[in-house]
Amino acid sequence: MTAPASIVRKVDRLRGEIREHEYRYYVLDDPVISDRQFDRLIEELKRLESEHPELVTPDSPTQRVGGQAREGFPPVRHPAPMLSLDNTYGYDELRDFDRRVKERAERSSLEYVAENKFDGLSLSLLYEGGALARAVTRGDGTTGEDVTGNARTIRSIPLRVDLAALSKLGLPRDFEVRGEAVMTRKAFEDLNRLQDESGGRRFANPRNAAAGSVRVLDPAVTASRNLAFFAYYLLAAGRVPLPNHWDVLEALASLRFLSSLRHAKLCRSIDQAIAYCDEWESKRAELPYEIDGIVVKVNSIALERELGSTAKAPRWAVAYKYPARQETTVVKDVLWQVGRTGALTPVAVLEPVQVGGVTVSRSTLHNWDEIERLGLRVGDTIVIERAGEVIPHVLKVTRHGHGKKPEPPERCPECGRPIHKSPDEVAYRCVNASCPAKFRESLLHFASRHALDIDGFGDKLVDQLVGKKLVIDLAGLYDLQLADLEPLERMGKKSSENLLAEIEKSKKASLARLIYGLGIRFVGERTGELLAEHFGSLDALAKAGDEELTAVTEVGPKVAASIAEFFSEKANRDLLRRLKAAGLRFEQERQTPRDTSLAGKTFVFTGTLPHLTREEAGAMVTARGGKVSSAVSKKTDYVVVGAEPGSKYDKARELGVTTLDEEQFKKLAGAP
Ligand code: IVH
Repeated sequence: MTAPASIVRKVDRLRGEIREHEYRYYVLDDPVISDRQFDRLIEELKRLESEHPELVTPDSPTQRVGGQAREGFPPVRHPAPMLSLDNTYGYDELRDFDRRVKERAERSSLEYVAENKFDGLSLSLLYEGGALARAVTRGDGTTGEDVTGNARTIRSIPLRVDLAALSKLGLPRDFEVRGEAVMTRKAFEDLNRLQDESGGRRFANPRNAAAGSVRVLDPAVTASRNLAFFAYYLLAAGRVPLPNHWDVLEALASLRFLSSLRHAKLCRSIDQAIAYCDEWESKRAELPYEIDGIVVKVNSIALERELGSTAKAPRWAVAYKYPARQETTVVKDVLWQVGRTGALTPVAVLEPVQVGGVTVSRSTLHNWDEIERLGLRVGDTIVIERAGEVIPHVLKVTRHGHGKKPEPPERCPECGRPIHKSPDEVAYRCVNASCPAKFRESLLHFASRHALDIDGFGDKLVDQLVGKKLVIDLAGLYDLQLADLEPLERMGKKSSENLLAEIEKSKKASLARLIYGLGIRFVGERTGELLAEHFGSLDALAKAGDEELTAVTEVGPKVAASIAEFFSEKANRDLLRRLKAAGLRFEQERQTPRDTSLAGKTFVFTGTLPHLTREEAGAMVTARGGKVSSAVSKKTDYVVVGAEPGSKYDKARELGVTTLDEEQFKKLAGAP
């Protein structure tokens, strides 16, 4: 079957549009449409491709996560070896490098390019006919591993480049791009939090996390890890096809790679390169990802060729490495802290020490396994590091003291109740629902900036409110009176009034913030937004079953189970009642007056709709007062049927329920 020309054109246009938006989002960091609009384009393309499978090409944006999990990574020989770099640690060494290069080149002045040295995993990307054909890790430099399926999921890696752009640069269609796959600090911290919650192993730093994420067998896992790829080298038929390295960086950028151009400088002398190293030593903390130094490269490619390489490293480039932000100190004690979910985290109390300009007196030990791995005892001398994390962590023990070995906790340090540890989790937990420590953390989370945003709600105040039992559940916050607050330490009349005004203001916070603020396990800010949008009200969310919950994009079975468990607790349902009575916003905010045209009607969706996503269609129903259900029954009013419907369609016909296509559904909903 061949698709009509109009469809071919449409598919082409959609792909072009999607590529443009991917580029704007993942490379330029400057999106011009919302995530939802983007998802809609992808859905539309997926639909056309499923109707016309002959149009699917490997470089289609829908094919990023299409790959299957595999058994291993076949070895691939690099067309030209992937070398390492010689390291330098001081500016004198950089001047030595400059002298050596000038001597060999018999030149008195030279241009250099100084650029960020990304701390990740190096990859070689082979393009054939302008399309990504293969991605290979560095391996031992001669032979690497084929990780193509995984690399395809990295959104800043173009699956195809613009052929016109290639020819404008005078480049052939077969070429190789080298660069580094990195993980942002934020993605790294999120990943470790997830690993903690699911009992997985923590990654020591973003580099290990990036490397681990490229080398997993299931591409879907790589896709979930939000990696970025920075391109810094270009080869065609074994040579750099341009006169200068600076041209290479510009060419990569114009081929829409995330190149190191943004954080690079063309230097007229080694002194300028040194100034650049200096400038980035402090500025690097502001980058969203880690750099561990600056690479200084000879700009002229003719000279690069002439200088050549040793067996290990090129003679035309050198790395200037920043000193690691590590320091030695002594462990004075190990304490256990109770978090919002009841997880107990061991914390090392340290002899205060300066690390990278910050005084550190405590460091998390993450969990019991970590204490055992380190073999840590009180009195030990340890090395702490501030790497990817703003929060420092213990790297290793360098000298054992003779202090006591920490013990796993038997009782909660706050409420004294016995501790629970499930076999599939690393964390010990306090399962006492009314543990004051857990409650204190929940309250802090509820009031935090991205949740209900109650300004002036700090640790000291919460300690007093919880300690004096002035607030015993989240809703209790809304019962506070001036007379409760005024007598508290550091409060007084003015700040008490301000706080009450803030609490009052928080009642207007969006539904998404409220959902996030409830502190349901695995429900972060984004999930809060998705749930608010999908269900439109807290009551609808509280009633949703597993199937309805997993119908929300990005909500998997684990998150769904956690949400369902939260709302099945009687205490939580009581809490909702009280929050509602206090006047919090339980409904998604609407600009227009409430439309109730579908009130009392229940809809079920099955199959893929041509234009609307499930969320959008569901939101249209709830916005008009209707209900969305996941299963067809006699009570169902309408079943909306898309492409490839499931058994729900058969059931609808069996029960004689009215079925609608998208067009009819839109008409019924009075939508344009
Ligand atoms: S150039 C022939 N530029 O650092 C050497 N490498 O420590 C070509 N790296 O194996 C490498 N950022 O993985 C170059 N801007 C950059 C880099 C960079 C990170 C990595 C690369 C290399 C390692 C050596």
